[in-house]
Amino acid sequence: MMSRFADILISWYQENKRDLPWRHTRNPYLIWISEIILQQTRVAQGYDYYRRFVHRFPDLFSLADADEDEVMKYWQGLGYYSRARNLHAAAKSMAQAGGFPTTYQGVLALKGVGEYTAAAICSFAYEMPYAVVDGNVYRVLSRWLGIDTPIDSTIGKKEFSEAASELIDTTRPSLYNQAVMEFGALQCTPTSPRCTDCPLADSC
Ligand code: ADE
Repeated sequence: MMSRFADILISWYQENKRDLPWRHTRNPYLIWISEIILQQTRVAQGYDYYRRFVHRFPDLFSLADADEDEVMKYWQGLGYYSRARNLHAAAKSMAQAGGFPTTYQGVLALKGVGEYTAAAICSFAYEMPYAVVDGNVYRVLSRWLGIDTPIDSTIGKKEFSEAASELIDTTRPSLYNQAVMEFGALQCTPTSPRCTDCPLADSC
């Protein structure tokens, strides 16, 4: 599926994106680490934690072999510490299984990974056409489509995940997902959608 929405967002992204380390890799392990950090942490705060974490634990096996105490030390100050415990447990189980899962269902089954994170990992690492829907994406879609069904309702989840699946550019899922997330973070922000310089304003 291709859409004008996707084309506009991708052009905007190519002009406005931040240069972030996890955007330069297709390594599912590194992408997984970045997405777990960014689940409840802003980019500005998560950035240095990500750099230190992957410097010390550059691959799945180095993380699986580490002591829990040391893993927790690298998470100190980030909060939501169950993320680090789940990360370590998942690394051990993947190492046991021989490596990072290569299917969406396999990724979704990892401890600490929900639908959003599985879609992010599978699109960024494997170019699978799963659309991400997080708070940023929900806000962008609800404004652009003019629907405000709450995302925490069953019907809202369904409505937004269906809309997202129709809007994704299936020829470049990774680029599209990064673009819509970045657009929500930088342009179509919660308090100020900056409509006067928005490339989608005339269709919104
Ligand atoms: N927030 C969650 N995932 C992100 C990503 N890959 N890039 C920027 N912000 C994010």
